[in-house]
Amino acid sequence: MTEKPVINYGLEGIYVDESAISKVDGQNGKLWYRGYSVESLAEQSNFEEVCYLLLNGKLPSKAEYDEFSRKLWNRRDLPAEVKDIIKVMAPRSHPMDIMRTATSMLVMYDNDPNNKENSATLDKVITLIAKLPSIAAATGRFREKKEYIPPDDSLSIPSNFLYMLTGKKPTKFESKLIDLMFILHAEHSTNASTFSVLVTASTLADVYAATTSGIGTLKGPLHGGADEAALSMMNAIGNPDNTEKYIEEALEGKQRIMGFGHRVYKTYDPRAKLVRSYLEESLTKEPSDEVRRLLQIALRAEKLMIDKLGSTKGIWPNIDFFAGPLYRVMGIEGQMFTPIFVASRMAGWGSHIVEYWHNNKLVRPVEWYTGQLDLKYIPMSER
Ligand code: ACO
Repeated sequence: MTEKPVINYGLEGIYVDESAISKVDGQNGKLWYRGYSVESLAEQSNFEEVCYLLLNGKLPSKAEYDEFSRKLWNRRDLPAEVKDIIKVMAPRSHPMDIMRTATSMLVMYDNDPNNKENSATLDKVITLIAKLPSIAAATGRFREKKEYIPPDDSLSIPSNFLYMLTGKKPTKFESKLIDLMFILHAEHSTNASTFSVLVTASTLADVYAATTSGIGTLKGPLHGGADEAALSMMNAIGNPDNTEKYIEEALEGKQRIMGFGHRVYKTYDPRAKLVRSYLEESLTKEPSDEVRRLLQIALRAEKLMIDKLGSTKGIWPNIDFFAGPLYRVMGIEGQMFTPIFVASRMAGWGSHIVEYWHNNKLVRPVEWYTGQLDLKYIPMSER
């Protein structure tokens, strides 16, 4: 080929596969998991049931749900060596680096990590869905030089995560909030981290290797790391009255406002709407002054951004914008936000691995070469 082909930078608009797991309607701001709207799942389901739905393609019967939840709950505790490595890393590593390393270690405890039978893959994914929240919680504990708290049998996966992180059993409202965040982050089609998981899985590497790739990809501030970055921006704004000046200046300086914009959503992200509504509900629960301040900043930033860039450039709030203030309602610190994203997204990553391996094809795109050819090699002594 001599003529330069059309290049879709960032794979924008490129279909890489078929999938029956989730549908993102970016024009109308809608999202479905296995055909169920994310709003209906957020209001009526729970994280464990959503995991079953994503992995198996249908809602479970009561018996199926009980068996699945029991499996998840029984696998939450962490091996001693994993706790040790988290403790070693905690004082000087970002929690996402700890998540990546500790998750990678879990392959040691699998006697048959390369088994790609459907039931074996599902089983590995269930183990990871169970253990990733515990890795995140242990990371938070050790960062604060506190002891590891073992899982509590009476609590769901998200509530148990909060308990293992804070040492306090969550209130009913906190349980609802953390369950909501786990559900909303569980799946989102072929975003960067899921694609990264699939690239690794397509080489027939194991589930742990694929998951580790996904965690590395989710870390970046253009993807999962935007939740932490958006909170940092709100803290930098400080006083709600500074909001407009800060944002205007940032935009003039060609900076990106974290928590806004999306490759697929060209309207309001439906997950952001849900997070925003629960954040407003938290105002009725006597939140801290910090949360009130953050919410004021967030609402003023949202208005300005939508007025300026909503209809002109299709830049609207995404899930990461209001996530930070809502996590602050639960007392969770900024660097722990993206690890929660990891713990929740494992359900989606795992579902995609299962689906992809039904019809595996090595991912290997091509690039248009712009360098030279047939250069004469000059020995080092003559250069
Ligand atoms: N703030 C200001 N301007 C923005 C923003 C933003 N958050 N997002 C996009 N733009 C502008 C760009 O500067 C560009 O302007 P130009 O055409 O004048 O050069 C235009 O919108 C298009 O931007 P692209 O980067 O080409 O669009 P893309 O689809 O690649 O961007 C992305 C998507 C990376 C998410 C982008 O909107 C962004 O950087 N947002 C901030 C980070 C963020 O919130 N990421 C989380 C996404 S949700 C998730 O991953 C869970």
